[in-house]
Amino acid sequence: CKGINGLDKVVLRDPRGSTAEVYLYGAHVTSWKNDHGEELLFVSSKAIFKPPKAIRGGIPICFPQFGNHGSLEQHGFARNRFWSIDTDPPPFPTNSKSFIDLILKPSEEDMQKWPHSYEFRLRVALGTGGDLMLTSRIRNTNADGKPFTFTFAYHTYFSVSDISEVRVECLETLDYLDNLQNKERFTEQGDALTFESEVDKIYLSTPTKIAILDHEKKRTFVLRKDGLPDAVVWNPWDKKAKTMADFGDDEYKHMLCVEAAVVEKPITLKPGEEWKGRLELSAVPSSYCSGQ
Ligand code: BG6
Repeated sequence: CKGINGLDKVVLRDPRGSTAEVYLYGAHVTSWKNDHGEELLFVSSKAIFKPPKAIRGGIPICFPQFGNHGSLEQHGFARNRFWSIDTDPPPFPTNSKSFIDLILKPSEEDMQKWPHSYEFRLRVALGTGGDLMLTSRIRNTNADGKPFTFTFAYHTYFSVSDISEVRVECLETLDYLDNLQNKERFTEQGDALTFESEVDKIYLSTPTKIAILDHEKKRTFVLRKDGLPDAVVWNPWDKKAKTMADFGDDEYKHMLCVEAAVVEKPITLKPGEEWKGRLELSAVPSSYCSGQ
């Protein structure tokens, strides 16, 4: 059906009442609601739903480059391309009855920026219990025999009641690259992460499970990931927020990005090879940590 500005979107509904919305622009998940109708993702009230910029919030897909870790535009171009519905995807098992398969192939213009041929298939699925599952399959279809290399992230904006009441568990004691300090490498100390200023860190070799605890809402988001070793944690805080045209000045209080990613060790695919990266999100009422 049609979303904001007449853009095509797909609405997924689980029989128990949870929903998700995916725009073909960017293959961008812009909404994920539990069976009480509560929105679990943050989308800015100032988000612009039209090209050429990515929608501010939800789950932008960063490909073929995360951030400015390379010579392409920030976060690559997949998040601001029109994807298609993949009507005949190669078989891929699912236990979900509510899912959509999308596909992106490079345009001639894209090939000038990044001279590689690929098929990027994204499946967005709602699981029983309202879990949101994203699976990316990226295949090198270069005819010239050349490999290609990319970095990637599911740039997920979680909706939180108050950032100063939020804790992230399962990243303590890990190494990270600090984007606010020339990508220098540090080691996280102490307890769960809490937030009192701008943060933009890439945690390296993270556990397959990460938890975001929202005390006020008595809700814990659990991320389970596969093929995505790194985790980016980002909140722009007040000063940076003011410089962003598509983000409200005070909205930083109500969002936190925790992004399942591949940054430090980019993926290289030879022709015919495929990479898979899977993210599963759940929102549960109690605290949780993988203990890994
Ligand atoms: C994060 C990056 O993933 O995305 C930050 O680590 C960046 O450095 C943020 O500021 C937002 O990026 P953009 O391009 O969507 O404004």
